[in-house]
Amino acid sequence: METWTKAQALKAFEEFVSPGKLKTYQMLGMEIVPARREGSRLWDKDGKSYINCRSSGGVFNLGHRPPEILAALTRALETLDLGDHLLLSEWRARLAKRLAELTPGDIQYTTFGVGGGEAVDLAIKLARGYTRRPGIISAIGGYHGHTGFALATGEDSFKEYFGPLAPGFSQVPFGDLEALEEAVTEETAAVIFETIPATLGIVIPPDDYFPAVRKICDAQGAVLIIDEVQAGLGRTGRFWAIDEYQVAPDILVLGKGLSGALYPMSATCYRPRLQSFFDQHPFVHVSTYGGSELGCAVTLAVLDRLSSPELLGHVNTMAEIFAKGLIRLQLNHPRLLIEVRQKGLMIGLKMCEDRLGILLTSQLAQNGVIAMFAHNDPSVMIIMPPLIVTAEEVEEVLAALAKSFQALEGFLR
Ligand SMILES: Cc1ncc(COP(=O)(O)O)c(C=O)c1O
Repeated sequence: METWTKAQALKAFEEFVSPGKLKTYQMLGMEIVPARREGSRLWDKDGKSYINCRSSGGVFNLGHRPPEILAALTRALETLDLGDHLLLSEWRARLAKRLAELTPGDIQYTTFGVGGGEAVDLAIKLARGYTRRPGIISAIGGYHGHTGFALATGEDSFKEYFGPLAPGFSQVPFGDLEALEEAVTEETAAVIFETIPATLGIVIPPDDYFPAVRKICDAQGAVLIIDEVQAGLGRTGRFWAIDEYQVAPDILVLGKGLSGALYPMSATCYRPRLQSFFDQHPFVHVSTYGGSELGCAVTLAVLDRLSSPELLGHVNTMAEIFAKGLIRLQLNHPRLLIEVRQKGLMIGLKMCEDRLGILLTSQLAQNGVIAMFAHNDPSVMIIMPPLIVTAEEVEEVLAALAKSFQALEGFLR
C-alpha cells in the first residue's frame, strides 16, 4: 500500500470519515495522526512523540502492541479463525472458565460480545428477562455506551435526537443512597453503575456506598449490574475496582482492556441464578463476532498478564509516584486544581472551571501527553496511562502537567 503523508491522511479523513471530528481536534490543538506506536507511546505522522494517558479508556492497559499479546495472536492465527458463533467452542469455554476463576463472588457464566455497549445491552436484557420487571436505574452523568439499552441509561446530550427510546429507564445522582432507596421498587429489574464513573469525572464513592447499594437491591430483588469496562482489570491497583468495596455484583460487564488493544472482545459475566433465564432460552441472544476464537486466544493471554501480582504491584508503585507529584501540583496551583481523584492509575483532576478541561487537553497535547477531559464534567481532566507505564514516563507526564498548569495560570490572569 502506498504511504500517505499526514496531509493526505487528514484530507481523506475530512472528506470520507468526519469533517466535524477533524475540526474539533484542530480546535483542540490535537491534529495528531497516530503512526508508530509502542508501549505507552505513540508517534504522530509528523514524528512528534506522545505518552498516551487516554489509553482509550483502558484498551491500552498493556500499552500499544504488547509483545506477548501479539505473540498469542500470531500463534492463534496459525490454527484458528473467528469460529462460528452458533456452534460450540473450546476457546469460548476456556476463556469463560478463566473469567469464572477471576471474577468476584459466585459469578460463573459469560456471554461474549464485541463492544462494551453490546455487553451492557445484554446485561440489561438478562436482568429484565430474569426478573420480568421493566425498571432500570443508572447514575446521572454515568456512561455505559451508545447502543440501544446502554444509550437509554445515559445522558440526554447523547440520546436527545434518537427518541423514542426504550421506556423504563431512570437516573439517580451517583453516591446518593437516599435517592437510590427511593427509586428502587419491586418494579426495578436492575441498578447499573460503573464502580468509578469515568465519564462523570472519576468520581470515587466512599467505602460504605456499594455495600449499601447491594443491600438496597437485595431488599427489592433487583439485579446489581457493575460496569467495569474502564475501572476493571487492574486499573485501580486491584484486579476489580469493586473488590475494594467487598461487594459481588450479579452481573459484571467488561470490555476495552480485554482486547489487549489487538482484538475486540467484551464480556457479560453473571451468577448462576441468572443463568436460569438462559437455560430456558439458550439462543435468545447471539453475536456473530462476539467471543470470536481468535479474540478468545488474545484475551486469555491478556488476563494472564493483567492478573499477575507483579503487574498489580507495578500499578500501585506507579500510582504512588503520581500521587506524590499530584500533591505538588495541587500545592503549586491551589486555585486551579481543586481536587485530585485517584484510585491506582485511574486519575481525575478536578479544576475550578469547565473550560479548563478543554484548555488543559490542548496544553497537554502541546507538551507531549494525550489525555482528555471528562465528557460529562469538562472541569475534570482524566489521566489514565497504560498500566505498564514506567517511572520515567510518569515523571514525564508530571512534568507536562506542571508546564501545562503554568500555562493555564496565564490564561486565567
Ligand atoms: C464504562 C463504560 N461502559 C461501556 C462503554 C461502552 O463501550 P464500547 O464503546 O466498547 O461500546 C464504555 C465506553 O467508553 C465505558 O466507558
